[in-house]
Amino acid sequence: MSPSEVPVAATTRLPDGFTWGVATSAFQIEGATTEDGRGPSVWDTFTAAPGKIRDGHTADPACDHYHRYPEDVALMKELGVGAYRFSIAWPRVRPTGSGPVNPAGLDFYERLVDALLDAGITPMATLYHWDLPQPLEDRGGWLDRDTAHRFGEYAALAAERLGDRVGHWITLNEPFEHMALGYALGRHAPGHSLFLDALPAAHHQLLGHGLATAALREAGAASVMLTNSYTPAVPFDGGAAHRAAADAYDVLHRRLFTDPVLLGRYPDLTAFGLGGLALPFVKDGDLDLISQPLDGLGVNYYNPTRLTAPEPETLLPFDIAEFDHVPTTDFGWPVIPSGLTRTLLDLTADYGDALPPLWVTENGCSYDVAPAADGTVPDRDRIDYLDAHVRAVADAVDQGADVRGYLVWSLLDNFEWAEGRHQRFGLVHVDDATQDRTPKDSFHWYRALIAGQVR
Ligand code: NOJ
Repeated sequence: MSPSEVPVAATTRLPDGFTWGVATSAFQIEGATTEDGRGPSVWDTFTAAPGKIRDGHTADPACDHYHRYPEDVALMKELGVGAYRFSIAWPRVRPTGSGPVNPAGLDFYERLVDALLDAGITPMATLYHWDLPQPLEDRGGWLDRDTAHRFGEYAALAAERLGDRVGHWITLNEPFEHMALGYALGRHAPGHSLFLDALPAAHHQLLGHGLATAALREAGAASVMLTNSYTPAVPFDGGAAHRAAADAYDVLHRRLFTDPVLLGRYPDLTAFGLGGLALPFVKDGDLDLISQPLDGLGVNYYNPTRLTAPEPETLLPFDIAEFDHVPTTDFGWPVIPSGLTRTLLDLTADYGDALPPLWVTENGCSYDVAPAADGTVPDRDRIDYLDAHVRAVADAVDQGADVRGYLVWSLLDNFEWAEGRHQRFGLVHVDDATQDRTPKDSFHWYRALIAGQVR
């Protein structure tokens, strides 16, 4: 695609200094799961269990990023991004989660960070993107309060080694999804189906966030954030029961993971049969730790969620419904860019002065487009998706949201959890057999957007 074909984007409506970036996570790209002293994570265990991952795909070598990171950093340099959000694998740094440190694991991140800095790219390190050391899971995982303390220690270890070069830290990635898919519904590692009994996994993750925040501050971190997944909860229609279902979903998905952090209290859980009850796993002082000031709030946005009143006798106070007549990605996710504007504006309105600056720490789409004979990867749908969502961010900024950056999920086609290699979110195509990287048309589009080549 030549620059003259690049579509108009909305960059001129974004604030000066706005950061463009890309995001990945360790388990989804690194491979090398047994190299240099890395211990097993819950995801290694889960992917090895029969029937958990579509078509039995595994995540080793994933994108072999552990060995190919110089090539991947070179791709990012070519792309022109200002920031790269990656995650550190806890089982590389402290393989058992509580025992000796593995210096070789930290060496890898030091090499990566040095390569990024050499390329003029700001590293944004996420400490936890779902790959809990298996030995901690064997002792209860996030259902056990002790895991939060071990997470705080790991944050201190990472900051001690990398803090002179990494200023931007994200404690947790999407604790709601981790609780819901990993502990409530059994679709992700560690594979528990506890429904509402998964709630301690919410609190202990948030406590871990608080302890990690304190450790990072102690180490002099310039910027500490938490990244949540956000989705506007849209009632099926205007009926009161559907609106109540949407409100309940908003409490569970958004408020449960945002109110404690920004307001220092849990939301009212009456819709879940827990109204007015003291949550037994919340101890004195926890909420003070959880609500320490942050430098930013990470927003991962993919689509809104449509809710209906539940069938009688169902456990949860909502059901999830499909949107009518809306295009979908290859994942079947509805493409509704205005949902991102709404997400950013709702946070702005609902949390007011308590809200730190917002960062879109993930946004992207799954479309499976293979390289054509001429070597291009014509992923027009992804360009349209990203273009519309960048405009949606600009619309939110126009209406008062303080948004500082936008990171595309993802740099590379990678291991999409229970979907294995099936969902391709990358700006760069990765050949599963050869590991060849081929920048897609969306890569060239994003490069032009970052370079300000818009009409
Ligand atoms: C959010 C998660 O953080 C990431 O790991 C995942 O690949 C994307 N959503 C797409 O599902």
